[in-house]
Amino acid sequence: MSEIAELKLAGQTIELPVVIGTENEKGVDVSNLRAKTGYITLDNGYMNTGACTSAITFIDGEKGILRYRGIPIEVLAERSTFLEVAYLLIEGKLPTQAELDYFTNRVRRHTMIHEDIKRFYDGFPRDAHPMAILASVVSSLSTFYQHDDQRSEDEQFSLNAVRLLAKLPTIAAYAYKKSIGQPLMYPQNHMSYCENFLHMMFSTPAEHYEVDPVMTETLNLLLILHADHEQNCSTSTVRMVSSSKASLFAAITAGICALWGPRHGGANEEVIDMLTQMRNEGGGVKKYIDMAKDKNSNFKLMGFGHRVYKNFDPRAKIIKAACDKLLARMKISDPLLDIAKELEEAALKDPYFVERKLYPNVDFYSGIIYKAMGIPTVAFTVMFALGRLPGWIAHSKEYSKEPGNKINRPRQIYIGEPQSEYVSVDKRK
Ligand code: SDX
Repeated sequence: MSEIAELKLAGQTIELPVVIGTENEKGVDVSNLRAKTGYITLDNGYMNTGACTSAITFIDGEKGILRYRGIPIEVLAERSTFLEVAYLLIEGKLPTQAELDYFTNRVRRHTMIHEDIKRFYDGFPRDAHPMAILASVVSSLSTFYQHDDQRSEDEQFSLNAVRLLAKLPTIAAYAYKKSIGQPLMYPQNHMSYCENFLHMMFSTPAEHYEVDPVMTETLNLLLILHADHEQNCSTSTVRMVSSSKASLFAAITAGICALWGPRHGGANEEVIDMLTQMRNEGGGVKKYIDMAKDKNSNFKLMGFGHRVYKNFDPRAKIIKAACDKLLARMKISDPLLDIAKELEEAALKDPYFVERKLYPNVDFYSGIIYKAMGIPTVAFTVMFALGRLPGWIAHSKEYSKEPGNKINRPRQIYIGEPQSEYVSVDKRK
């Protein structure tokens, strides 16, 4: 059943169509608003604005629902693999065994990076932030894999998507090895995707290294949980850059940079720093809860709150359970996990958090798992990027397939100076 919105404006009433989604989400389509009225809409931070329609991921923030191509995240977390989820997101359906085998082997064949790219790492400072290295090296891929006119746009996109999925773990692992002064470890293509990454991160030429299957299983889970999240800041950035018809490498580089911010993917690194500070101070969590509530403190409880989830982030629930399981299986007891649980319990009882519906998000517990796996805190956001890559690719592809797609170019309301004179420098105050 179609709906129409009526808008009374400047003495006229105009009708605007309402778009209704699969799960009954409703959006007023204002595509013709300016043409009809001369007015635009204004929505700081896009709190109420849909940038597009999309068939990739569905989130219900009130109910704490997350589905990739209609499949609940809890089911995928339990039964799928990261490469299968990547295929699901990018191609829009679960692969047959033959399709999955072909996709897996295709990715496997692209895990090495050009030997000239390896030399970039000699130039980075040892303490370079790995997100800066990731963005730099991914951006450079377009110089090694220049557009090949022999291939159709679809073939080019598909090959570059496989190159990115295959090479991001190698690029990330090499950044870690560079930071600790160990030799870069080549990928071993007989290994699974997650096993190969852990091999490149933690093996050395000096001794035999067996990847712990518990770590492989846990990494597979974490990457699945991070794989997509509809129009989050970094994915919207990827769609924005894709809309100018820049290359997939350029769009993914932009997504990496947007994810880096502490309000977004950078939060997982900040959570561990916050919990470590609480542990070192030893004064309990109340001081931090009070600081988070104090508008003058500028302090935010990192890993808490979400633009969409006004209930538990379903990913946080799964990661919290995986935390307990992994630490128990690895016989690790991490005081930061105890502090995190104490903080969560205290915050969820506090009216400030309850009224604002601030719950733990995906970043609250993930860092504790990465830490248990031996991944340095500074590389936690890189892990987020590894997971989010298929989502970014899927959205870039969806955008490019959108019939009549336009370059994303928002409007604004100008609030600066009225027309002014050019004052010569000798007369300026
Ligand atoms: C991710 O979009 C996505 O889907 C992102 C993501 C993904 O998968 O891509 O889910 C991944 O980025 C998760 C979020 C990680 N960031 C953090 O954990 C940083 C801490 N969280 C906050 O910065 C904040 O909650 C945001 C940025 C996540 C959301 O901010 P919003 O939606 O703009 O909400 P807001 O800042 O307007 O907050 C509403 C109120 C404010 O108080 P009042 O002005 O109403 O009094 O809640 C308060 C805020 O001050 N608030 C917090 C808080 N988060 C919000 N107060 C204390 N601690 C917090 N963490």
